[in-house]
Amino acid sequence: MQTNPIVEMKQIHKSFYSVNVLRGVDFDLFSGEIHALMGENGAGKSTLVKILTGIHKSNQGEIFYKGNQTEFSSPKDAEKNGMAVIHQELNIIPYLTVAENMFLGKELKATPFGILKTKEMNQRTKEYLNRLGIDMDPQKPAGELSVGQQQMIEIARAIAANTEVLIMDEPTAALTDREIETLFKVMDQLRQEGVAIIYISHRMEEIFRMCNRITVLRDGQSIGTKNTNETNFEEIVKMMVGRELGERFPDRTADIGDTYFSVENLSLEGVFNNISFDVKKGEILGVAGLMGAGRTEIMEAIFGARKKSSGTIVLDGKELSIKKPHHAIKAGIGFITEDRKDEGLVLGLTVRENLSIPNLKTLSNQTIMSDNKEKQFSKDMIEKLRIKTSSSEQEVKSLSGGNQQKVVFGKWLGINPKLLILDEPTRGVDVGAKKEIYSIMNEETKKGKSIIMVSSELPEILGMSDRIMVIHEGKVTAILDKADANQEKIMEAATGGINR
Ligand SMILES: Nc1ncnc2c1ncn2[C@@H]1O[C@H](COP(=O)(O)OP(=O)(O)OP(=O)(O)O)[C@@H](O)[C@H]1O
Ligand SMILES: [Mg+2]
Repeated sequence: MQTNPIVEMKQIHKSFYSVNVLRGVDFDLFSGEIHALMGENGAGKSTLVKILTGIHKSNQGEIFYKGNQTEFSSPKDAEKNGMAVIHQELNIIPYLTVAENMFLGKELKATPFGILKTKEMNQRTKEYLNRLGIDMDPQKPAGELSVGQQQMIEIARAIAANTEVLIMDEPTAALTDREIETLFKVMDQLRQEGVAIIYISHRMEEIFRMCNRITVLRDGQSIGTKNTNETNFEEIVKMMVGRELGERFPDRTADIGDTYFSVENLSLEGVFNNISFDVKKGEILGVAGLMGAGRTEIMEAIFGARKKSSGTIVLDGKELSIKKPHHAIKAGIGFITEDRKDEGLVLGLTVRENLSIPNLKTLSNQTIMSDNKEKQFSKDMIEKLRIKTSSSEQEVKSLSGGNQQKVVFGKWLGINPKLLILDEPTRGVDVGAKKEIYSIMNEETKKGKSIIMVSSELPEILGMSDRIMVIHEGKVTAILDKADANQEKIMEAATGGINR
């Protein structure tokens, strides 16, 4: 590492209205290092990088870039000076093609005002994606891709530019193991080429594997910076939450009863085939598989958000005819989706309004809550899930990513479902809050509810599931008991190795 940092941020302060979000943050970054930025949801990580890249202005503090005091006036300005950011919120425009998204704002033109060089852009896009090990049609509308694939476009876009400082705000949240491995290879290569990388993630394993140093923020202040090889999980977690956290996964203590929910021969041509499984009362069924295996599609079909060509669904002894989500909700099924922006939340409404979305209430068999009850409920949820918000009246769109996810969770708990389908329930959620969510899953199953949990995080699948179903290319390739399951067996089934 050379002696002068490429980026140095000193005593950065930032407030939104009267809320002090950053209260004196110091951060430095060297060329050729991967530097992790960690901290609980709402600690200020995204805000800090938004200040660095000219999206927000700090109220106080200094930024040095290549030794000169600098303040980028806009993200474009930062980009021109060699910075690339992959933001936590995807910036993909669904109706544009993959290639158009790649070159958004920097389209190749034959003359300054002339025709776009579509062919060349398509070709170059293919090359960049190949570098990430992805074979994707550049002319496909981006909206038809999965969240994970869209994320890969963003990553390709960032590394395609002549980047000196690459900022990645939770890049792997939507990716599965194979894509993550490719991404890590590319990051390693960039580091060797001398690129400086800021890496934000809640995944401890990744941080310890990939990063040279770790800086921890807590409540808008920098707590400290450690060399990764001189620290450990416990120390970092303690710096983040300010206390010992104990075990990552709470013990499963629910009594598991008889079959409560079952799916028989569920099919959708070309997507999934003859899916059959059941979930017992009080049980958590984990669903593993690679990205694109069809896990989300199966869950959407159960919930009525997607058509199915055949199959029967039984809950609590009753065969259900689900054609639309409101049929599922009425029957007692809750669904926490993978994509909180699209389906989970109304961003312009407050935390309280989202937690008590009235149409959800009327759709379910719950009676509508009185105003007071609604206020109490949102207060309870904010406390229970430790949602970091200035009040229950804050708009959801100004919450940090992980806190938005907690609101989605709380919202569905409010309708008291018999079966809760969770699709990546802890994506982007910090270690402490993850544990809160696991505890709530435990509590819900103790009350006799059943849970299906789709997750790409194997530690979570292994830590929380009573049984594990593995999906490969739209088929069930294994159903494992907790006692027999391990990472190797799941990966083998997820890549099609085991036949049932
Ligand atoms: N535009 C805004 N208006 C008001 N408050 C905001 C705004 N942007 C961020 N905040 C608040 O600033 C705090 C820090 O948010 P930030 O997004 O930086 O957190 P984070 O560390 O990135 O969290 P996460 O891990 O959940 O992504 C949060 O409490 C958030 O509610
Ligand atoms: Mg963030």
